[in-house]
Amino acid sequence: MFKSMIMAPPDPILGLSKIYHSDTKKNKINLGIGVYIEKFHAAPILESVKQAEDLLLKKEISKNYLAIEGSNDFNNANQTLLFGPNDSIISKNRIRTVQAPGGTGALRIAAECIAKYDNTINKKRRIWISEPSWVNHKNIFFAAGLEVCTYPYYQKSTHSIEFDKLIDTFNNIVKPGDIVLLHGCCHNPTGMDPTIEQWKMLSECAEKNRWIPLFDLAYQGFDNGLQEDLIGLHMFCKNNPELIVCNSYSKNFGLYNERVGACTIITENNNHADCVLSQLRATIRAIYSNPPAHGAAIVSTILQNKTLRFIWEKELKNMRDHIKNMRKLLFNTLNKYKNSKVINQDFSFINNQKGMFAYIGLNSNQVIKLREELGIYLVDSGRLNLAGLSHKNIDYICNAICNLYI
Ligand code: LMR
Repeated sequence: MFKSMIMAPPDPILGLSKIYHSDTKKNKINLGIGVYIEKFHAAPILESVKQAEDLLLKKEISKNYLAIEGSNDFNNANQTLLFGPNDSIISKNRIRTVQAPGGTGALRIAAECIAKYDNTINKKRRIWISEPSWVNHKNIFFAAGLEVCTYPYYQKSTHSIEFDKLIDTFNNIVKPGDIVLLHGCCHNPTGMDPTIEQWKMLSECAEKNRWIPLFDLAYQGFDNGLQEDLIGLHMFCKNNPELIVCNSYSKNFGLYNERVGACTIITENNNHADCVLSQLRATIRAIYSNPPAHGAAIVSTILQNKTLRFIWEKELKNMRDHIKNMRKLLFNTLNKYKNSKVINQDFSFINNQKGMFAYIGLNSNQVIKLREELGIYLVDSGRLNLAGLSHKNIDYICNAICNLYI
């Protein structure tokens, strides 16, 4: 059977890192994959994480399996982080969480569960993702057997959200029972998030049209703060009886290779929630049985320990501030080269974007030129990881970008 297998295409983000590592150019720069880098070291281990690991090492007495749904401590801490301890969703017992292997794992669990236990007759359940979206969204939902559709989100010519078209699609094309994936904050790849008014309109639209919101929350804490970045999610919770949240701790705890995430489902009542949890368990059991323990133990230890949590929140703020400074540096340095080369190109839209990425408006030919000729690696869509910038490399990068417009 293997004789007939052909090569799968490389992954547009992880595959790019592989090419980067084999590139022999001396001054190559990786601005592709969304990993927080500092002082040229990829993904430093946070001090709060180190301290939590010390504590865990001392108190660990067993390597026994976790429950199928993972650690209760972690799942509860996750719910509290998302909704606070006193939210009625929690007191009314309408919420269930399962630990997941990263944000991708959380999305896949949700997708598998929806596809498998679906009661739409003879039809695949539809999920709507933004155009553009994180490149892996399509793969995940397609692999689980859902029909993947796209809704208009970003208008290239104005570098802004095409909100009228988006609302029109949600009102007239998306059907009751369809799932709509929304990026909770720091939209990947565009960095363009809805305003508070737009979040309100979206949540009312979901309620009116009875579609099911699925929040992908991979960058909580990277825009304005842990709670501030949940504005959209909290607005949706007020009006919508059912909701899915898939969140990741890869970025805000720097736990990329520990694979820590969670899939949370909110239902109309406690009974529905119990049934959903049983189906989530059945889904997980058939895929990987139960999750790994270490990363989730780090997260729950930090979230529940006052001192460690204080350290972590400070570290998260430092990451957020550093990224914001790099956005300013990018904008200012692009302007410097734009003026010196007398190019008619407005880069001010970069300042409206949020989170780890700048979506700088380059086409794939321009991106390939930067990569092949100069060793500057961006994702093909023109997404640039701000955390990969530094005072040392910024001139090289901005000079090269501005040369593309000559
Ligand atoms: C990214 O968007 O670069 C990250 O989420 C890494 C990944 O898995 O694609």
